[in-house]
Amino acid sequence: MDIFVDTADLDEIKEAESWGILDGVTTNPSLIKKAVDSAQGDMSLDKHIVEILETVDGPVSLEVTEIKQEKMVKEAETLYEQFNHINENVVIKIPVNTAMKEGDDNFEGVKAIKTLSETGIPVNCTLVMKPNQALMAAKAGAEYVSPFLGRIDDHIRNRIGLDRGEDYPKGIYYPSELTERVRDFHIRDKISKEELDDVVYQNQEVMDLFDWGNDHGLFSGIDLVWSMKNILDNYSYETKIIAASIRSARQVRQCAELGVEIATIPFSVIEDMMVHHKTSEGMKAFDQDVIPEYKSILDG
Ligand code: G3P
Repeated sequence: MDIFVDTADLDEIKEAESWGILDGVTTNPSLIKKAVDSAQGDMSLDKHIVEILETVDGPVSLEVTEIKQEKMVKEAETLYEQFNHINENVVIKIPVNTAMKEGDDNFEGVKAIKTLSETGIPVNCTLVMKPNQALMAAKAGAEYVSPFLGRIDDHIRNRIGLDRGEDYPKGIYYPSELTERVRDFHIRDKISKEELDDVVYQNQEVMDLFDWGNDHGLFSGIDLVWSMKNILDNYSYETKIIAASIRSARQVRQCAELGVEIATIPFSVIEDMMVHHKTSEGMKAFDQDVIPEYKSILDG
């Protein structure tokens, strides 16, 4: 599995690159803002972007800010023209759907993806929250689709009333079997078994518990990736999945078990992937047991 770092922070990117495990970088307007705020005017933003591109010999996603097809395409072309010649590694991030309220056009994103893929500009389709969006992005020619695992877990927790508010660490999510059981409990609570088949798909309240009308019964962010991967594999799309909005090493492991091509991971979670107290304990024991004769052989 390729590992991208989900940050625009140059120090983090350089450090991850020095570990020899980095395959790419993803940014978005929020990550750029965070990086610029913490760099405190050390360098101009265009120099900052150039340095990211030079540091990593792999895809670097830069996101557009407009919401209409033509303007998104224009921004994408500007970014590509200004930066791609640096290291031939710019990928343009386009939201799958730029609608922000009811009545807005839901297809500006895929239209932009289609246009850009036809002109040969690689697209990472972002803000993907359900498998059908990934299917449409793949059909439009996206090179990558980025499902937002952590944000779907937030959404599911809120829906089923398992969110413990601020005490709930960001990286924790329930396994799909548990959320499925909670869903079943809610259903049992609301309707009798006999009524289940007839009523469940017409009962908005039950449907809303798991957003079935929209998500077709997803139980976790990992479940979202699993479903999406099956769909893309079924039709042999070349579109690669970048598991995004990752909050824990456990999510990374589960993505790798599913054969997801890429995970874009916050710097701190990449660090967590390497740490185990039993490794440290073993290390300490080896260190204490080194006898001088052995050390002198090693010192040559
Ligand atoms: O890659 C998408 C990511 O930056 C969003 O992460 O934790 O804000 O949901 P998060």
